Parts: sequence; C-alpha cells; structure tokens
Amino acid sequence: MDDLSWITDTPLDPCESDQVELWTKRACIAIEEASSTEILRQIKSAILGDKSALIAANRSIRDLPGQSKAVAGKNLGGARKQINDVLSLRQTHLEQAELATALANESVDVTAPTSRFPIGSRHPLSLLIEEVSEFFVSMGWQIADGPEIEHEWYNFDSLNFDPDHPARQMQDTFYVAAEDGSDKPSNMVMRTHTSPVQSRTLLESGVPLYVACPGKVFRSDALDATHTPVFHQIEGLAVDKDITMGHLKGVLDQFAKALFGQEAKTRLRPSYFPFTEPSAEMDFWFPQKKGGPGWIEWGGCGMVNPNVLRANGVDPDKYSGFAFGMGLERTLMLKHGISDMRDIVEGDERFSQQFGLFGKGH
Ligand code: PHE
Repeated sequence: MDDLSWITDTPLDPCESDQVELWTKRACIAIEEASSTEILRQIKSAILGDKSALIAANRSIRDLPGQSKAVAGKNLGGARKQINDVLSLRQTHLEQAELATALANESVDVTAPTSRFPIGSRHPLSLLIEEVSEFFVSMGWQIADGPEIEHEWYNFDSLNFDPDHPARQMQDTFYVAAEDGSDKPSNMVMRTHTSPVQSRTLLESGVPLYVACPGKVFRSDALDATHTPVFHQIEGLAVDKDITMGHLKGVLDQFAKALFGQEAKTRLRPSYFPFTEPSAEMDFWFPQKKGGPGWIEWGGCGMVNPNVLRANGVDPDKYSGFAFGMGLERTLMLKHGISDMRDIVEGDERFSQQFGLFGKGH
C-alpha cells in the first residue's frame, strides 16, 4: 500500500474546488489500486475517518461565511459522492475476486492423481502354497493341516521312530517346556516335519486317502543363506489298494512338471526314513538350473512303512501307500532364482511385491 499520509496531512480548503478535486482524484486512485478488501478497509477509514483532510474540511464549513458555505458544501458533497461511488464499486469487485480465489482453492480436482493406499502384496510362500495345493486338488487330493505344536507320538512314535532311535535327534527337535516349569520332558515338540499329518489324516479319514499337507516346521538350525529354524514343507500321502512306487514316481514327475515346466522329471536314490520302506531321496531335473540343466535334491519319499499303517489303524495286507515331503523355501528359491533364504524369512514387503498379488501364471 502506498504512503497515505497525504490524506491526513494535506490541509484542504473546501472552497478551492481545484484542490478538492485533485485530492478526490488521488483518493479515488488509491481506492482503485487497493488489492484486497482488507487494504480497501484501511484506505476507506483513512479517507473518511476522523483524521482525514476531507473530514476536517467538512467540519470547517460551519465557520465559513454564508456564501462560501454553499460553495464549500457543494465541493465536498461532490467529492464524497465520487469517493463513495468508487469505494462501493471497488468493494464489490474485490469481494467477488476474493470469493472466486477462495472457491478455486477449495475446489476438488477430480482428475488430480491421488495418494492411494498401497495395495500391499502376498508373501511368495503363500502364493507357492496355493499353487502347490491347486496342483494336488486338480488331481482330486484333499488338503489337510495339523498342529504346529505336536505330540511326540504323532511327530515320532506313530511314524515308526524307535524311542531310542537316533533319528529322533536327526531332526534337531525343539522340545516344548513342561507346563509346570520343571525340567521334565513335556512330550510336546515343535513339529519337525509335516509327516505327523500322515498319522492324523489316516486316523481321522481312514482309507483310501489322498492328501497333501503344506505347513510350517521347526528345527534348531541357525538362520543363514540356506537354513532357517522355521520353514515350510509339503507332505504328500496316498494310501489305497495296490499302490506302488510307480504311482509315487508318476505323481512326483507331474508335480515337478507343474512347478518347473514340461522338461522337469524326478529320479530316486535309496535312502532311509523310519516311516517309509523302501525310502528314497528324490532329485528333480531342473532345466533352468544356473550353469546348465542338472539334478537338484528336492526331498524324501518312499512307500509307507507297514508299521506306520498298522499304528494308524490301516491293515498293511490290504492297503499300501506312498509318501513324500519337500521343503517349500528351497522350492521357491529354485523356482525364482532366490539366492538367500533370509529374503524369504525377513518379511520385507518390497521383496514380496516382486511376485505380484496372484503369483506367476495367473
Ligand atoms: N519327513 C521327511 C523329512 O522331513 C520327508 C519325507 C516325507 C520323507 C515323506 C519320506 C516321506 O525329512
């Protein structure tokens, strides 16, 4: 705002029409230059307020001789009318402009990009478990789950682990503390494999049985690039009349192809598990293996040991079965070329995001 001291400091002779006219002109210009209603309010109160030269001149009229009174009154009356007209015009104009600005600021631009809520993502292991489960469901198998804190009987005894058999130590078991806090063994363990679900489903559903069980398992390993104390397995179990190792091989081959492409296949090498006889280590032919196609260790399998069938209420003379189990973290690493298992475990959302919301192939 310009210096407005002239409004108060220029003494006005109300009879001098030129002087009054000039003063009025300047006042009108100041009004027209006001850039906001607030500035206009200040200018108005200077021009028409008590200290204004115009108001002082007005007050002086009463002391003038009669003749001059009329001239002065006309001069000042004209000035005031002119000022009031310009003032009200400017007032209206500024009010409208300010309203328009306020409305523009408050309006919502429906085309502006929003800061959306991030959608998040699902963990690639969950996606793999879904993919694997879909494969077994497509063959008519059921999917089962069991408790992660498991009774020793299901985790070991029912699966033909001898009470003193070193195989119990083979799996680096986490034992659950006794409820009374004593050092007594509690009989409860964090399940070391998904095989206890073999027992549970056999006892619950009977035979024939075709079941796949994906789930979390626990072993006292340290976390590094290729080990984690908490990981996932999928267990498969088929028990029916006349089940042979040929069926096992066929299912494993199809499973490998479903996950790793049509060129994938499996081979079996003799091995030992208490719950299968004969037992085998299973490798699969991995066409996309780094450095060229080759065999990769994938899991264990075999024909269900007759002792296991008996312990779970199935007559081994009438029924036979096969079982297999493999690690899902390892499967995921191979499938997606993940080199460090800790990426899978740590739960950084940015890692999961790379796999999309529905997994590959959807
Ligand atoms: N349970 C075995 C393991 O965790 C894998 C396995 C499952 C082997 C089923 C044979 C049959 O090592």
